[in-house]
Amino acid sequence: MRLLLWLTALLSFVFVNAQEINIIPKPLETKAGKGSYTLKNKLTLANYFSDKADNALTVYLTDYLKKYYNIEVELIPKTEKADIVLFPIRMPTGGALAYKLSVTEKGIRINANFDESAFHGIQTLIQLLPVNSTAAKQIPVVEIFDRARFDYRGMHLDVGRHYAPVAFIKKYIDYLALHKLNTFHWHLTEDQGWRMEIKKYPLLTEVGSKRNGTIIGRYPGKGNDNKPHEGYYTQEEIKEVVAYAKSRFIEVVPEIEMPGHSSAAIAAYPWLSCFPNRTTAIPINMVSMKTVQEAQNGRVKFVQETWGVFDDVFCAGKDTTFTFLENVLDEVIALFPSKYVHIGGDECPKTHWKQCPACQKRMKDLQLKDEHELQSYFVQRIEKYLNSKGKILIGWDEILEGGLAPNAQVMSWRGEAGGIAAAKENHYVIMTPGSHVYFDHKQAANEDSVTIGGFTTIQKVYSYEPVPKELPESQTKFVRGAQANVWTEYMNNTSKIEYMIFPRMAALSEVLWSSKENRSWDDFEKRLLVQFKRYDLLKVNYSRAYFDPKSTVEVKK
Ligand code: ACM
Ligand code: ZN
Repeated sequence: MRLLLWLTALLSFVFVNAQEINIIPKPLETKAGKGSYTLKNKLTLANYFSDKADNALTVYLTDYLKKYYNIEVELIPKTEKADIVLFPIRMPTGGALAYKLSVTEKGIRINANFDESAFHGIQTLIQLLPVNSTAAKQIPVVEIFDRARFDYRGMHLDVGRHYAPVAFIKKYIDYLALHKLNTFHWHLTEDQGWRMEIKKYPLLTEVGSKRNGTIIGRYPGKGNDNKPHEGYYTQEEIKEVVAYAKSRFIEVVPEIEMPGHSSAAIAAYPWLSCFPNRTTAIPINMVSMKTVQEAQNGRVKFVQETWGVFDDVFCAGKDTTFTFLENVLDEVIALFPSKYVHIGGDECPKTHWKQCPACQKRMKDLQLKDEHELQSYFVQRIEKYLNSKGKILIGWDEILEGGLAPNAQVMSWRGEAGGIAAAKENHYVIMTPGSHVYFDHKQAANEDSVTIGGFTTIQKVYSYEPVPKELPESQTKFVRGAQANVWTEYMNNTSKIEYMIFPRMAALSEVLWSSKENRSWDDFEKRLLVQFKRYDLLKVNYSRAYFDPKSTVEVKK
C-alpha cells in the first residue's frame, strides 16, 4: 500500500505544477491564492533595507537567480513599483524574527522586521521557483507568514577527522541557509588533526594538522593506508568563512576541544601532556609505516591515525596548559564574532590525571575529591577566562560531571539526560542526542559505504522533539534548540558528507523551524519529493535511502 502511495506521489511530482507550494521547513501560515506570477528574465529589485549594491540580501538574491535561472536582477532606487520589494516593517511578534512573503500576479514582496528574517523570506521565495531551471518561471500567488520555533538551529561539522576545503565549508553554509538553519558549529580540533592556524603556536598546524596515515575501513580497520592526510584553515580563510556565513545570517561557533581529544595539539607541543616523554599509543595493527620509522628515530608524540578516545590529554596540573589555551582562545575570540565558544569537554579519560604528579597536586591543593572535579575545575577556569572576554562557554554534556561551570551552556549528546539536568539547573541547553540527530549514523538498512554504525532514518530525525517531556514547563525556555552532528571518521570526501547530511537535514530543519502543529510526516513526505528535485538542481549528492523498498516497506512474498 505504501509502495502504491509513493508511486502515485512520484508520478504527481514529475508533473508538479507551478501552483504547488512545497516549502521545507513548513511555514507557519500559508494562504494559497489564485493565479501565478511569471518571472521575466530581467527583474527589478527595490531593497528598502539598504540600497547599497553589496547588501547581503541583494547580493544573495541576485546571485541565486542568475546562477540557477539566468534571471538578471537590477537593483533600483526604492520604489513600490519594483518586481521584487524587500521592506522592513514592525511586526507584533515581541521582537521575534518574522517575515511575510506576498506573491501577487504583479510581483513579489517580502515584509520583514529584520534583514535576517527578510533573508528567510528570500529562502522561501526560492522554494516557490520551479525545480527545473528551464521550466516556465512561474510562481503561485500566495501569502506566507512565517517565523522559527527555535532560536538555535544548528549543524555541526567535524573537520578534525577529515579536513574539508574552504570551498566546501561555504557550500555547507549555503545548505544551512537553504534550510533556514542559523548556526554552524565548526569542530576545528581533534586527535587526528588541528585545523586552525594559531600564530602564537605555529607547530599546531605545522605538526598538528598532518597525520601519516589513517586506518582502512571500519574500526579497528584492516591496517593503515599509509597516506598522509593534512589541511588547516589560515586565519584569513577563517575570516572569509565567517564573513560568508554572516552574509547568510549564520553564526559560526568554533570548537576548540579540551581537555580530551587533544592528541594533535600534544603532538605539536608535547609539554601539554601529563607525560611528555610517553610515546603516543597507536595499536601496532593501526599505525603507519612512517610513524613507526619516526618513532624509531626518537619522535614521541603523534597525531592519531585511528579513531576513538585516547588517554593522552591536556595536563590539568600544569599552569602552562592554561596559558597555552588562553593564548589560543585569544586568537579564536579575535576571529569569531559569536558570543559562544565551544570547548568540547567530552570523552576525557582520567587515566593520565590519576597518574600525574602535577594533576594530583592540583587536586590535593584544591581539595578536589576526584578527577571529575578536576575536569570541572579545568572547565570552570576556562569559563572564567572566556567570560572575562565577554564570551559564553558551551560544552558537551560531560561538563556536568563534577559540577557545571556557572554560566555554561550544555550540548546534550549522550541522549537528553544531560540537557534535562542542565535545564533544570537553569542552564541553557542545545539538544543533539545521538538517538535522533547524529548524521554519521547510517540512514539505510544496508548502506553501500562504511559508517560509524547506528541507524537513523529520515523518519527518525523527523520524529525528534527537542523539548523533553520530562522538563517542567517552567524550564522549557532553557532549550535553545537542537543541532545535528556530523563526525567525519568515515567521510573522507565532501561528496560523502553531502550523502550523509541529505536529506536528513530537511527533516531537521522542520523539527527546528516549524510549529509543532504544522508537523506531519505525511505532508513532509510530499514536499520532500520536490526537495529532492531541488537538490538535483543544486547538484547535491543526497542519499536515496528513502526510496529503498528494503528499508521502508515490507514486501510480502
Ligand atoms: C561526541 O559525540 N563525542 C560529542
Ligand atoms: Zn597532569
